[in-house]
Amino acid sequence: MKQRERWPSKLIFIFAAVGSAVGLGNVWRFPYLVGKYGGGAFLIPYILMLFILGVPLLIMEFAIGQKMQVGAVGSFHKIERKLSGIGLGAVLCGFVVVSYYAVVMSWCLIYFFHSFALKWGASTKDFFYDKVLHISKGVGDIGFISVEIIFALVVVWTLIYFAVWKGVKSVGKVVLVTMPLPVILLVILFIRGVTLPGAMEGIVFYLKPDFAALLDTEVWSAAMSQIFFTLSLAFGIMIAYASYQHESSDIAKTAIITSLVNSGISIFAGFAVFSTLGHMAAASGVSIAELAKESGPSLAFIVFPKALSLIPFAPFFSVVFFVMLIALGIDSAFSLVEAVSTVIHDRYPHIRKQDISLYVCVFGFICGIPFTTFAGLYNLDITDHFITNYGLVIVGLLEVWAVGWLYGVDKLRKYINQVSDIKIGKWWNAAIKFVIPVCLLILLTLTFLNDIKTPYEGYPQWALFGFGWLILIGVLLISFIFSHFSKE
Ligand code: PFF
Repeated sequence: MKQRERWPSKLIFIFAAVGSAVGLGNVWRFPYLVGKYGGGAFLIPYILMLFILGVPLLIMEFAIGQKMQVGAVGSFHKIERKLSGIGLGAVLCGFVVVSYYAVVMSWCLIYFFHSFALKWGASTKDFFYDKVLHISKGVGDIGFISVEIIFALVVVWTLIYFAVWKGVKSVGKVVLVTMPLPVILLVILFIRGVTLPGAMEGIVFYLKPDFAALLDTEVWSAAMSQIFFTLSLAFGIMIAYASYQHESSDIAKTAIITSLVNSGISIFAGFAVFSTLGHMAAASGVSIAELAKESGPSLAFIVFPKALSLIPFAPFFSVVFFVMLIALGIDSAFSLVEAVSTVIHDRYPHIRKQDISLYVCVFGFICGIPFTTFAGLYNLDITDHFITNYGLVIVGLLEVWAVGWLYGVDKLRKYINQVSDIKIGKWWNAAIKFVIPVCLLILLTLTFLNDIKTPYEGYPQWALFGFGWLILIGVLLISFIFSHFSKE
């Protein structure tokens, strides 16, 4: 048998794992969730979820990949033949995410080119909706494909392809730049942000806890799904990455470092974003709560460009901001391509990995096309809601069920402790077997009840069905059928 590819060093594995985890989820998704749920109120459930859910699950995914020495599908197949669909479900969910994630990256690319001349002018809202997205009146009005976005999407996918085409070897080189670069750029934005007049109000909004908001179950659901998203959990990524580690490599320390660095960067990014918003609030007279609340997913494209244009040397800081977003996104996007290619390559070792990666990238590009139409933002919003709140959570639930109840938590814990410096206590067994499944089940039920009661964001039922339920059911059904027919 051919020797499995290996990471050139331990440090590079950590760089790659952190690179996958740290992405648009940290600087775009995390701050807008903080804004949406009223600032400091979000931080408490987020931090609690990190320790209850994030750290134990990341340890589990690293351990599974490293122990089994294959990607997500093969790993669950090794636990039990009929479970291979869990791995497939993970990579399919990830694939859906990356198809729209690359579109968000293509908006960043467009904004990067417009940064030099601050093309968005005073009305950043009109610029984003009309000039960049050409947004239509509603989800039913598809209009056309935006030429600029599709062109940018080709560039983004080409960049992704060239980062992964030589597998772990090229990924190992690329992450040496794409992991530290955005962090350095973030430090520049942080320093600029916190030294602006009005920054303090922004930071107070960001950190001041609002205990009443903790009674809102939606905040807890949002925190849980953010932990999945931000740590690239239930995407099959961390399993694939860990499968290129030697069987005797440390697991616990690596997982703890990855999760803490990732959330540390999110929290740090929050300072950069909210101090800049504080300045904007002071300059424009609109309250920071209002600014944060109305922005939502468009925070990075409407509120932030405006905030940036208010500070001296605006083009410079705008370029820094968008280069940072692209660099952040790319190593998350290619980690997913690598997760999919790993699964295919495990199964068909005679096909060259670089050909597989090419097919995956071309297919990812094609699947992204619906998000480049004039109704693209609506489609993206719906798909994101269903895949992150249901897809990832269901896959996560099945993963802990498979490991906790079928494979045997204690067996896996013993293996982790054999290879790790930091020893994991029995608490981990309880987390995987009981605490996490119960949390996920509650979250799933709450989100479902909420969606039944009020259609998500008031979208028409047919759209929620087409871009939400149908994709979700499709992913689950394919995985189930795959499991059923899976051979020895
Ligand atoms: N962890 C990534 C982030 O927070 O941005 C999420 C992610 C998205 C990973 C898309 C992989 C991916 F393809």
